[in-house]
Amino acid sequence: MQTITLADRTVPALGMGTWGLGEGSAAQRQQERASLQWGLDHGLTVIDTAEMYGDGAAETLVGQAIQGTPRDQLTLISKFYPWHATARKMRSALTASLKRLHTDYLDVYLLHWRGTTPLRETLAGLAELQQAGLIRAYGVSNFDVADLKEAAGLPGGSALVANEVLYNLAARGIEVDLLPYHRAHHLTTIGYSPFGSGNGQQIALPRPVQALAKAKGLSPWQLMLAWTLRTGQVLTIPKAASLAHMQANHAALAVTWTPAELAVLDHAFPAPTHKVPLAMI
Ligand SMILES: NC(=O)c1ccc[n+]([C@@H]2O[C@H](COP(=O)([O-])OP(=O)(O)OC[C@H]3O[C@@H](n4cnc5c(N)ncnc54)[C@H](OP(=O)(O)O)[C@@H]3O)[C@@H](O)[C@H]2O)c1
Repeated sequence: MQTITLADRTVPALGMGTWGLGEGSAAQRQQERASLQWGLDHGLTVIDTAEMYGDGAAETLVGQAIQGTPRDQLTLISKFYPWHATARKMRSALTASLKRLHTDYLDVYLLHWRGTTPLRETLAGLAELQQAGLIRAYGVSNFDVADLKEAAGLPGGSALVANEVLYNLAARGIEVDLLPYHRAHHLTTIGYSPFGSGNGQQIALPRPVQALAKAKGLSPWQLMLAWTLRTGQVLTIPKAASLAHMQANHAALAVTWTPAELAVLDHAFPAPTHKVPLAMI
């Protein structure tokens, strides 16, 4: 299994996203729990969630799905709204998340995106939660290089462990400067929406890429996912609501690439050669 370091632990480089889970019928929720549990049983021990997802419904579903897994084998990531980014509001947001997740701590707590609360205040609040043992580590999401530099200059800013950002074949802007910044400052890159989000058909693959997938015996989704795993420097977190999708995504861990194959993908989806604004969903 490909691994990556997150918050001082070695974890699988393939995690499980949860945006949209927990919002459907009882039968759908049962299917989603089964999908997450299959992932857990097969070593996918990183789960990414947020208070935003279904207004807590995703966290509730995750809380149910993790019951059979020893807590110390799990890496739970959750996120708080920018309007909960003061010390007081963050603590009550976290308390509610922990309750829904049926756990007494998070492994990583992230500011979901930057809002109007001064970063200094947010970092102080996160440091307090860490000292209280309620979170093992903290980080940010949707931060570009300038935001990270600003954070690094503030108390608690050097303790950030991760930045969660959009990363897929059609959104490669972070390769220009954000990924190198993360590497230089020991921040884990958590890459979200490896299929471009939505219904999973957002990224149109041109013919040569479709032919490559076919030749490698991969579905277009497996190809997109395996591509995000190719460098070992991104923790990629697809969402799969069904067992079939979860199993297909797990199989993408075994994919290897030749330079010629990667060249086909670079030709179809070139990385920008200059700084572009950070893309977000
Ligand atoms: N920090 C942030 O601001 C932020 C923003 C967006 C997302 N995220 C995180 O990243 C996670 C992933 O992103 P996402 O949910 O936006 O989109 P995504 O993972 O790129 O795409 C999900 C879509 O792909 C489909 N899919 C999954 N595996 C498949 C497979 N093997 N074959 C065919 N279709 C497949 C899913 O269908 P089914 O659901 O039917 O399986 C769903 O429709 C989120 O769930 C969330 O945890 C974070």
